[in-house]
Formats: sequence, structure tokens, C-alpha cells
Amino acid sequence: MSNNGQSKWLATHIAALPRSGIRDFFELVSEMDDVISLGVGEPDFATPWGIREATIYALEKGHTNYTSNLGLMRLREVACDYVAANFGMRYHAAAECIITVGVSEALDLILRAILDPGDEVVYHEPCYVSYAPSIQMAHAVPVAVQTVESEAFALEPGRLEQAITKKTKAILLNFPNNPTGANLSFEQKEQVAQVAVRHDLLVITDEIYAELTWGEACQSIAAFPGMRERTIFLHGMSKAYAMTGFRIGYACGPPELIEAMMKIHQYSMLCASIVAQEAAIEALRNGRADMEAMKEEYCQRRNVIVKRLNDMGLRCTPPEGAFYVYPNITCTGLTSTEFAHRLLREHKVAVVPGIAFSSAGDGFIRCSYATSMENIEEAMARLAKFIAK
Ligand SMILES: Cc1ncc(COP(=O)(O)O)c(C=O)c1O
Repeated sequence: MSNNGQSKWLATHIAALPRSGIRDFFELVSEMDDVISLGVGEPDFATPWGIREATIYALEKGHTNYTSNLGLMRLREVACDYVAANFGMRYHAAAECIITVGVSEALDLILRAILDPGDEVVYHEPCYVSYAPSIQMAHAVPVAVQTVESEAFALEPGRLEQAITKKTKAILLNFPNNPTGANLSFEQKEQVAQVAVRHDLLVITDEIYAELTWGEACQSIAAFPGMRERTIFLHGMSKAYAMTGFRIGYACGPPELIEAMMKIHQYSMLCASIVAQEAAIEALRNGRADMEAMKEEYCQRRNVIVKRLNDMGLRCTPPEGAFYVYPNITCTGLTSTEFAHRLLREHKVAVVPGIAFSSAGDGFIRCSYATSMENIEEAMARLAKFIAK
């Protein structure tokens, strides 16, 4: 250990990484009994039975080996067909698609594949907690553009353009968004696409929540004119198909980028688990009805939680996708961390402080509605008592 409590062996850029702001909080949650958690970012449903059965069957057949580094050809074909049918982009399974260990690995691969030290990646906050650290781990510089409540947390193209410099290499997008639930309209996506074309930038689009939209159907930025050749489309099984533990994601994009991602993947991960890949084939081929049923359930919960929060005076922009709401808590006079700690201690409800997702997130909390309606009703009753105090 060196004087400041850090090992002398650590790489400078890793030593400089902040710990996740919510880790200590959720360690506290795990030590308490009877907590209702609106904190988790994963489906409360078990993976649909047909998908689990396909996994068991793959094991029974003895499918326990490595696969191609790019992933099973059958899965790449099914994934490319799924993307064509649902998003309108046709990718070639052999050269334009790679199967990864979740969208998490796909994001890491593309960042490492494109970034030189000092390059900048513009992304929008509030956002998924791993974006800035993932960019930093690739020795590059994250540049945040704030999205704001008064604009329904959409990405304002003018603000995006102002953040672009000579060092900018890529724009990282996530709509529908974690944690705000925001989506972009057709026109907004078109404008963001025009910014990318004008500045000759790569767009990395994390569309992991694409199926879970409550308004307009998913419309990928990759489908806009001039975008296919400059977009890496990231998608995966975790959210819509309730398959977080299977760890399957995929990336589609220009062959030279997929090839570069494959090189890193081949030397670091080798391949994604074969049984999980077999499960993903089943999900993409036959899982739609189960997925739609879970989606219907989320939609009902969304309507309840949005109404309850607004009724108790926590202003809440109706989310257009994903399974999160991001209410404004400024009327309480508490910071988001104080709010979350007091709500946990006094009423045993866990939510995530907005500061975990954005440097400007202190007036907000994230509540996940990937939990039962019963839990949501009880959590809202406890929250209303807390607010009334
Ligand atoms: C926006 C976003 N991207 C990626 C991930 C990670 O997905 P995966 O399980 O596919 O690694 C999450 C998980 O919460 C997420 O919210």
C-alpha cells in the first residue's frame, strides 16, 4: 500500500476511477430485512420457460464446447433476422455481427477498438453508470452533455454539437434511456444523425431497452440515411427477454469494426457461453409472446407508479421506455443521497439517488418498476408517508 491507501501496483487510470456511487448504498440495503427495492435494474420475471428448456436441452445434447469467436453462426443469423424485422437494418451474419457477453462487453469492445489515448466520446447524462468509466478504461475522455427534465430528457442536438471538438471520435447514445425512461422522437433521432454525419463521427447506440417502449415503436438511429456505415448497434437479451444471467449481447455494424472487436474479444473472452447462445436462439425465434406478456405487465406498473408519484407531489415525466421512472424530488429540499438514505432507514424502501447517473442528478431518484404490482403499491404508500413528513 502507498501512503494514500492505494496499491502501488495500480495503473494510474484505474486508480483514478471513482467507485460506483451506489455500491455502498446497496450493501446497506442487502444487510436490512423487509426492504422493498425499487433499485434493481433487471426484470423481476424468471426467464420464460421455453428459453430455460432450450438451455437444458442444449446441455443434454452435450453442447458444452467453445463456439466461433464471433458466436454461433445460427445465433448470428437469427439475431440479424431479428434486427432486420424489428429495426429495418439488414446486416450480414458472417461479417457484420458479433455475439458478446452482454451489451456490457460489446460496449467495452467497441470503445477499446476505436479509441486512442486522449480521444473524446460524447455521451448524454443521466445515463447508465458504466459509460464514463468504460470510456476512461479505454484511455479516452468522456464528455457529458446534460439532458434536462424540461425537455423530457431528450438529447438536444444543439447542445450535443457544442460538445464536439477536434478530438471527438464517437457519440454514445442510449434511448430508451436508463435511468430516465426517455426516448427520442423520429425527428430528434434524425437531427442527432445529422450532427454525426456533419462531424464525421461514429455513433454507438445502446438499444438494450428497444422492445420496452410505451409510445412509438423502436426506430434505430442506425436506420437513418448515412448512418449504417457509421453506427455500431448494440442489443442484447438481458432486459426484454429477462435473461440478465445468461449474459448475451450482440453488436452489428461495419465489417472492419466488427473484425476489430472480434480481435479483442478473441484474446480476452474467447466466446460467449454456448448454452447461453442456444438459449438466445430460442428467445429470438420463439420468445415474442412471452416478451409481449412481460411488456404488458411493465406497462400497467408504469401507469400506476407515474400516477402515484405525481399524486404525492413528486413530479414525474412519463417514461417512454425501459422500466424506470425518474421523479423530481427537489420539493423535499433533500439531496438525492439524503433522500435515498432516509427513505431506506425510515421506511425501508430502496431507490437509487440521481447523483449516481449524472453530476446534475441530485434533484432526482430512479425507481425501477421491474418489481411486482404489490411491491409498487406498498412502496408508493410508504413513499407518500415519507413525503408527507
Ligand atoms: C443502458 C444499459 N446498457 C447496458 C446494460 C448492461 O446490459 P447487459 O446485461 O447486456 O450487459 C444495462 C444494464 O442495466 C443498461 O441499463
